[in-house]
Amino acid sequence: MNQKAEAAKLLKPLIEGKDEAEIAEMLEYPADRRMGDIALPCFKLSKVLRKAPPVIANDLCDGVLQNPDSKDTFDRIESVNGYLNFYVSPKAVAKNLSEISQNERYGSSDIGKGRTIVLDYSSPNIAKPFHIGHLRSTVIGQSIKNIHKFCGYECVGVNHLGDWGTQFGKLICAYKKWGNKEEIETRGIKALTEIYVRFHEEAEKDPSLEDEAREMFARLEQGDEECLELWKWFVDISLAEFRKVYELIGADFESYKGESFYYDKTDAVVSELKEKNMLVLDEGAYIVPLDEYGMPPCLILKSDGSTIYATRDIAAAKYRKETYDFDKCIYVTSAGQSLHFAQFFKVIELMGYEWAKDLVHVPFGTVSIDGAKLATRTGNVILLEDIFREATEKTLAIINEKNPTLEDKEEVASAVGVGAVIFHDLSNNRIKDINFIWDEVLNFDGNTGPYVQYTYARCCGILEKAGSYGKGGLLTEDAEYNIVKTLSLFPEKVEQARRELEPSVISRYLLDVCQEFNRFYHDCPVLKAENEETRNTRLDIVKATGIVLKNGLGLIGLKAPKNI
Ligand code: ARG
Repeated sequence: MNQKAEAAKLLKPLIEGKDEAEIAEMLEYPADRRMGDIALPCFKLSKVLRKAPPVIANDLCDGVLQNPDSKDTFDRIESVNGYLNFYVSPKAVAKNLSEISQNERYGSSDIGKGRTIVLDYSSPNIAKPFHIGHLRSTVIGQSIKNIHKFCGYECVGVNHLGDWGTQFGKLICAYKKWGNKEEIETRGIKALTEIYVRFHEEAEKDPSLEDEAREMFARLEQGDEECLELWKWFVDISLAEFRKVYELIGADFESYKGESFYYDKTDAVVSELKEKNMLVLDEGAYIVPLDEYGMPPCLILKSDGSTIYATRDIAAAKYRKETYDFDKCIYVTSAGQSLHFAQFFKVIELMGYEWAKDLVHVPFGTVSIDGAKLATRTGNVILLEDIFREATEKTLAIINEKNPTLEDKEEVASAVGVGAVIFHDLSNNRIKDINFIWDEVLNFDGNTGPYVQYTYARCCGILEKAGSYGKGGLLTEDAEYNIVKTLSLFPEKVEQARRELEPSVISRYLLDVCQEFNRFYHDCPVLKAENEETRNTRLDIVKATGIVLKNGLGLIGLKAPKNI
């Protein structure tokens, strides 16, 4: 049990009408240790108890001190200016430290046991480049998945590929006119994007091309063999490229069922909507009006009879509920799609499915590179692969300068270079827009992935030099207390990141750990400590820090090389 929970347990019998969890919520960690390790700001109770905060603090203080259990964890409990301050005893801190250093899975829990989470993330579009915008969905989604797994949830990662829709009519049409098989086989998505871009240019001049494309998509939906074969080929070529990126960043999916999987499941959706009297004919198209809910209508069936993105999403949500009986189904996309999700979530609710409340959209902000916005249609995109290649090369150059004899240099450079890009992506609240500036991403001394990985490698280095070591004792220095206290926050941070679906809670916390650790390392000699017992205690601190950093890095999808 953590110390906030201990304090809440002591307070529970003294505060009527609040359970331990609610009391724990009210407790704070004062920034300055002199104000206690944990504090209860009593003004939060003055309304219910109808007393002034200092009076409440005094009463609670007397009550808590009468409980002999209070001595197990706290050696001082004081009422100061309306605050009740708890000081964790040196013995409890030492116990805390040994708990962390002996548990490789520190921070994990089983609160999700028996529950399933479906995560729809990455979900790029076939025949379009996987650019840095998709990177966000992939790293945020993967991290949210890792965090849930760490909390004991069963997770189903779904890559809802954009592999169906009218654009495939355009692509087939374009290929038949200007495509070159060998070129596409060698240059892959780049070549496919080029003919797709060309289609749009030519269609400006000759609008009849659009009709041809529509015809091709209609044929595809009817199962025309030639069209299906071409489509399958485009999918395979694109997937091969996407998989390279996934391997590089450690993304993994339990399912690759994309939009095409639902093409024979949308008829049932349309009939169900009709039966439930929800469809309205509007200029030849079928829609579900949503003006009552302050939204434009949800388009279900186009006037040419073809289904769209939203129809397939409704079919997909139903399929997932039936297949996985999820506790939550989480969709990670740019904030640009928020309306789309709000609309089809509403339609599912109106269809009478109570589980509509378990559908969650997790939006994120846009990405620009050195200030330039990214465009998709024009082909003016910086490919993700290029970004990772550049990050790895830059890292290798730094390693060659600082640590030229390092083993497995290439592998480490890739782990650090790729990690730098991922960490940068996850270091702010996901809803914020990102500007990608190379020098910030790769700065080993800044608030970056390399800095965290480097601190972890430093821990490993110290432990390796030390070899085996014996039992430690009590902590004495402030810097020792501070780092252990920071480490003991890890389980709470994991839970917060999970609840808020916000990986940046972890990345920011890891930076705090590094800062606190490096302060400790600066103030307190470890290998050359004044005596054996102190040396052992400090080695335990190094070990515990290593565990938290490694687990935390894993949660946000970064590798943790032992040597940099
Ligand atoms: N393919 C879409 C895009 O790249 C994202 C799909 C998100 N998932 C979903 N079920 N709609 O914009």
